[in-house]
Amino acid sequence: MNQENNSGSAGEADKYFRLIAENLTDMIALVDTTGRRLYCTPNYSFLGDPEILAGTDSFNNIHPEDKERIKSIFFNTVSTGVGQSTQYRLVLQDGSVRHIQSQGIAVRSADGVVEKVIVVSRDVTEAKDAAEKQRALELQLFQADKLNSLGKTVSGVAHELNNPLTGIMGFCQLLLRDEAIQENSRHREDINTIFREAERCQKIVRNLTTFARKHKPEKTFLGLNGLLEDSLRLQEHQLSLHNIAVARELEPALPKTMADFHQLQQVFMNLLGNAQDAMARQKGAKSLSVRTRRIGAFIRAEIADSGPGIPPDCLEHIFEPFFTTKEPGKGTGLGLSISFGIIAGHGGRIWAENLPGGGARFSVELPITEDASPGEKKAAGAETLPLKGQRVLIIDDEQCVMDVTVRILRLLNLSPDTARDPATGKAKLEAGNYDAVLCDYRLPGLSGLELFKWAKALKPELEKRWIFISGSSGGEELLKTGRPVLAKPFTFEALQEMLGAVLKK
Ligand SMILES: Nc1ncnc2c1ncn2[C@@H]1O[C@H](COP(=O)(O)OP(=O)(O)OP(=O)(O)O)[C@@H](O)[C@H]1O
Ligand SMILES: [Mg+2]
Repeated sequence: MNQENNSGSAGEADKYFRLIAENLTDMIALVDTTGRRLYCTPNYSFLGDPEILAGTDSFNNIHPEDKERIKSIFFNTVSTGVGQSTQYRLVLQDGSVRHIQSQGIAVRSADGVVEKVIVVSRDVTEAKDAAEKQRALELQLFQADKLNSLGKTVSGVAHELNNPLTGIMGFCQLLLRDEAIQENSRHREDINTIFREAERCQKIVRNLTTFARKHKPEKTFLGLNGLLEDSLRLQEHQLSLHNIAVARELEPALPKTMADFHQLQQVFMNLLGNAQDAMARQKGAKSLSVRTRRIGAFIRAEIADSGPGIPPDCLEHIFEPFFTTKEPGKGTGLGLSISFGIIAGHGGRIWAENLPGGGARFSVELPITEDASPGEKKAAGAETLPLKGQRVLIIDDEQCVMDVTVRILRLLNLSPDTARDPATGKAKLEAGNYDAVLCDYRLPGLSGLELFKWAKALKPELEKRWIFISGSSGGEELLKTGRPVLAKPFTFEALQEMLGAVLKK
């Protein structure tokens, strides 16, 4: 720094260069060829007093894992005169780590020998953290995308499995009504076992779609009590493993709602999972309380835990996507935001509060939709409905589903007729009069929904007699028609109830 410039003498230039160097945000050190610091700008103070730093080994504070690499770069600059840019970590006195980006510049003597090195450094810790956060976010979005395609695959598989499951469960129930079987306790027990195992498969299929997170909403009439019981059962093992006592207060005659089973189960599984995670940090007796009740035109489910509660400054953020207080890899912070979307999509609301005695309580409120629940309304009286001789057309391309439905209808004293494809269905609807139509959503060539629209235009009275059967697709669309949807695999009772309600009208 001793060259002349326009503004004055060499001493003055020195003064200006020093002023510039010491007021830059970058740090500048002058190092001899052994790595000893000769001078440091004041912003090196995070490593100690820059005055005292002069004379110390500049490799001292480098992270042990980076030290050898940095030494070799430094001595390479000394021997070749070519400076390099690199990143490494510095360890501060309090043990914290900073990420530093440095550029070495060789200073040569008059005869060309490298006699010093100027090192210009910048603390890039914040930028690096931001880049890592961005990468994590991208990873999460990638994961969400992966889950989305997995969801599509799983819902396809679910649909395929629901057809054979309908057959297995339906034929089991038919066999159980057979007199000979009723008299043979061993056969009865075996068939009961087959039925229970098929029910297990049904649950696995449901859970798969639940965990795949995304699938088309498939709204059916359901009660929250059963759903909560199912969700608790799935977590039974975890709950007892962590010594969590579960208190249930489920209102017995709770009205039902029109909802997507998988989506609501996803909500409750997350609420139960969160409560367990919260209680893992808790000392003393752990308790989980699950309560349902009717509040005006709504049904409410409450899940309360005895954990530490939600820190007040987090309370307003917990429903935001990616908000999590869990350690990396443990939580994605998506659970509550997905739940929020699901409940809002059902016309309900979800909120959280801390309890005065400690712990957190999450409440879910959903509208009661009794009027549109023909299948459920007459549950108790279904047996007494005058189901005799009415003509029911079944339109389904699945042989097994068709067979079991025909058998159940006969047992109910109804008169079934069948169509394995939409064209036959159309011909039969044109030619005959039916008291009810059971129509699959997914048919070859023409969807159940299109067939419904066609039939409605042909004979308006058919609208009130239409029941959709659905594997795992078409939920939203079917719902818009206002017609009941029988979800596969269905039970004898579910079919009977739904037909009962439609035939009564
Ligand atoms: N019962 C609870 N008690 C205390 N804090 C809770 C409770 N439930 C949720 N929280 C807080 O809300 C945050 C967000 O929950 P959310 O379910 O959205 O994400 P997560 O559980 O962290 O991750 P993910 O559900 O995606 O695995 C949690 O990290 C936690 O801080
Ligand atoms: Mg969660």
